[in-house]
Amino acid sequence: MEYGLGIKNNHLYFGGADTVELAKQYGTPLYVFDERVIREACRDYKNSIDRYYDGNGMVLYASKAFSCKEMYRIANDEGIGVDTVSAGEIYTALSADFPAENIFFHGNNKTDAELEYAVENNIGHIVIDDFLEIDRLNNIAGQLGKTVNVMLRIKPGIDAHTHDFIKTGQNDCKFGFTLETGEALDAAKKAIRTENLNVTGFHCHIGSQIFSTEPFSLAASVMASFIARVANETGHTVSELNLGGGFGIRYTDEDEPLPYAEFMNKVSAQLKYSCKELSLPVPKVFIEPGRSIVGPAGITLYTVGSIKTIPNIRTYVSVDGGMSDNPRYALYGAKYDALIANKAEEPDDFIATIAGKCCESGDLIGENIKIATPETGDVLAVLATGAYNYSMASNYNRMTRPAAVMVKDGKSRVIIKRETFEDLISKDV
Ligand code: LLP
Repeated sequence: MEYGLGIKNNHLYFGGADTVELAKQYGTPLYVFDERVIREACRDYKNSIDRYYDGNGMVLYASKAFSCKEMYRIANDEGIGVDTVSAGEIYTALSADFPAENIFFHGNNKTDAELEYAVENNIGHIVIDDFLEIDRLNNIAGQLGKTVNVMLRIKPGIDAHTHDFIKTGQNDCKFGFTLETGEALDAAKKAIRTENLNVTGFHCHIGSQIFSTEPFSLAASVMASFIARVANETGHTVSELNLGGGFGIRYTDEDEPLPYAEFMNKVSAQLKYSCKELSLPVPKVFIEPGRSIVGPAGITLYTVGSIKTIPNIRTYVSVDGGMSDNPRYALYGAKYDALIANKAEEPDDFIATIAGKCCESGDLIGENIKIATPETGDVLAVLATGAYNYSMASNYNRMTRPAAVMVKDGKSRVIIKRETFEDLISKDV
């Protein structure tokens, strides 16, 4: 039980620490992260990209999944880059001394101020998302006397069979240039001709929480053909290809994620094959995993409050957080496993609807979750909450965002402080 989840003396352990003690020490709700799980995931990706792309690849942590200074420090320490989607994420990364050249900046509607900020700070790559951005970025780069490395985000038109809200590779989507209509080719021609931009490559992201390698392999071959087409028509062969993120994780037993190396093995074989067929040099490959780096590395601890049984219908077990710290059930119907941390060895034969404390009926963490018989005062642990929980948290109902602690080998430290009431009114006038 060195890292990850474990059980000792009827208590749930995480990262070698007793979660019941953590709840006591730091209060609840509490996000808890296991540093070793995060680092293992970074290393797994880094080693497999090095192996399957012969050293010509780079992992970028998609920091939208969980952005805070400590995460950028860990990513840098593990020798990986990051993907950012706002000046706010870039600011956080830079304030943790993250090297600007290893930052990618995405977004379908970057403001002029954000583009200026990125160019001034020498952000490594900017991923252009629409025609107007080509001109806007060119002007900004010109004014600042810089040449900017850019990629173009392409919609390869691939349906990755995932939840509709988080599917971004198909054509009806606000991100990127459509391949099918010729828009992507026109954008590439324009950007390549543009004075202050250096088009290093293309990017695609086909969705999130994907369990099969096929859509990624298909994306790799579609993108290789596009690179060849652009080379034929413009004489400019790009040297980089960013295949995005989206690798699935296990939230419940219904999910069966593949080892990351398996994705890398299959996709790299396809890309190499396609490049050979097209007489193209194999580009440098980037991937952008977010969820799979931090998702399984985090849990949320709550204290159970009210327990309400509606006869023949359900039992609501309410906790001291809710959609304000985890909006994913309310937004996507996302499923989670949970257990009572102080009853970790007891049978999970109680079927609960876990509710939050926000003033909204849809404020649930999940339905039909099997846990041990709950009592007020128990500590409930919701598993695999490391991604898109803190980063999507809000102050709805003027809830204060929970603290986050990082655990390593049984020792814990605060990495994000709990918000206070003063924080809540700090911007009120
Ligand atoms: N790269 C790009 C360009 C992306 O848009 C995303 C996610 C990623 C990488 C990282 O994908 P991941 O490896 O984390 O699946 N809030 C939703 C997820 C939205 C994902 C948006 N883009 C959720 O809670 O499930």
